[in-house]
Amino acid sequence: MPLQIILGTQWGDEGKGRVVDLFSSRADLVARYNGGDNAGHTVTVGSQTFKLHLIPSGIVHAHTRGVLGSGMVVNPVTFFTELDSLRASGVEVDPLRLKLSYAAHLITPAHKALDAAQEASRGREKIGTTGRGIGPAYTDKAARQGLRAGELLDESEFLEKLRAHIAAANRVLERLYQAPTLDVDRVSADYAAQALRLRPYLADTGLLVHQALAEGRIVLAEGAQGTLLDLDLGTYPFVTSSATTSGGVFSGLGLGLRPVEAIIGVTKAFQTRVGSGPFPSEVEGELAERLRGTGSNPWDEFGTTTGRPRRVGWLDLVLLRYAARVNGLTDLVITKLDVLSGLPELRLCTAYRGGGGRWEDLPFGPTELEKYSAEYEVLPGWSEDLTGIRRWAQLPAAALRYLERIETAVGVPIRMVSVGPERSQIVERG
Ligand code: IMP
Repeated sequence: MPLQIILGTQWGDEGKGRVVDLFSSRADLVARYNGGDNAGHTVTVGSQTFKLHLIPSGIVHAHTRGVLGSGMVVNPVTFFTELDSLRASGVEVDPLRLKLSYAAHLITPAHKALDAAQEASRGREKIGTTGRGIGPAYTDKAARQGLRAGELLDESEFLEKLRAHIAAANRVLERLYQAPTLDVDRVSADYAAQALRLRPYLADTGLLVHQALAEGRIVLAEGAQGTLLDLDLGTYPFVTSSATTSGGVFSGLGLGLRPVEAIIGVTKAFQTRVGSGPFPSEVEGELAERLRGTGSNPWDEFGTTTGRPRRVGWLDLVLLRYAARVNGLTDLVITKLDVLSGLPELRLCTAYRGGGGRWEDLPFGPTELEKYSAEYEVLPGWSEDLTGIRRWAQLPAAALRYLERIETAVGVPIRMVSVGPERSQIVERG
């Protein structure tokens, strides 16, 4: 029963989209288990670049089926906008190919308004959310007052609940945040018109995934965001509101542990972060500009969802070791190795100093990271352009040494590296 999990080991934006794309060429079903349209997955196929936020990126393959699992929060407006843009690019996705869990929660305009109001009220403490209403939607879910996709099946009851939900959010917006309120009639009518279009896509997706696995089909669980943004295991409170780690796969899809075949952690060859929160190996100035790129290429370090420039730094092996442990990683994929070409020397954060000690593993996990400073190991760089390399043995000796150092420190084998944004620019280890 081959379930393969692909997830990010950092703060998101590791390049999971293109890795999922590669693995989905061999998969039958690609399922997202967490988050919503806060994600940004970029897949480049020839001259076409797909930017997906909500729909599993593996769907760009004509033979795959897609699932949005019970752990997700779904904005119907984004759902249909993405379907339209896929269609415009020649990728036809009908309700037979794509299924949405009846247990997934819906994101409404009220959730987005609350997200904005909460962020504004946080002032200097703001999280830097994507503004997509993710936190408030999961808050309603945990408070057992959310709107589930399955409720769309009873239209009049759904409308009643929706109106009550918007009216309740208005009271919070007005009284707690002194923020503008929503027009209950207009917003409910507009939103319901979109949301009700989701009905043909509804299914018990857990059963669907289970059946696919029982038939021996390959199912790919596609993670969104990254390990360090996990609600429980990340750099709380600067996290997202879902379970991004491998544990989230099982409740987020409705599966048990047994079918797992591989847990593949995608790691960028350096570190990036978008939004607020501590980042011990962060760099600034010329080096940061060099790693980030100018923004003129789709793969430069600017948020796919928000367009914000990402913060950048050296690869942090303390955090990567942590990610390997909490996810039970079986393999690593290193992306964007080509970006490091031309740097005379490279640094790897191998330990932290702070709180009167030196730490290779943090005593309380990745909390209060601002207390620590990074300790680095310096390795020689390489000058060769890697973008044309397709075989492991062709990688320069210094690049191999860099990869080997990561592997030894983390204790997980590197299965492949990417050397450019194209589908073909992947070097698999023989
Ligand atoms: P939210 O998920 O919009 O609530 O944002 C919470 C935090 O997670 C913010 O720091 C966001 O920048 C970050 N975040 C959410 N989704 C992504 C993603 O797909 N990539 C990188 N960061 C993300």
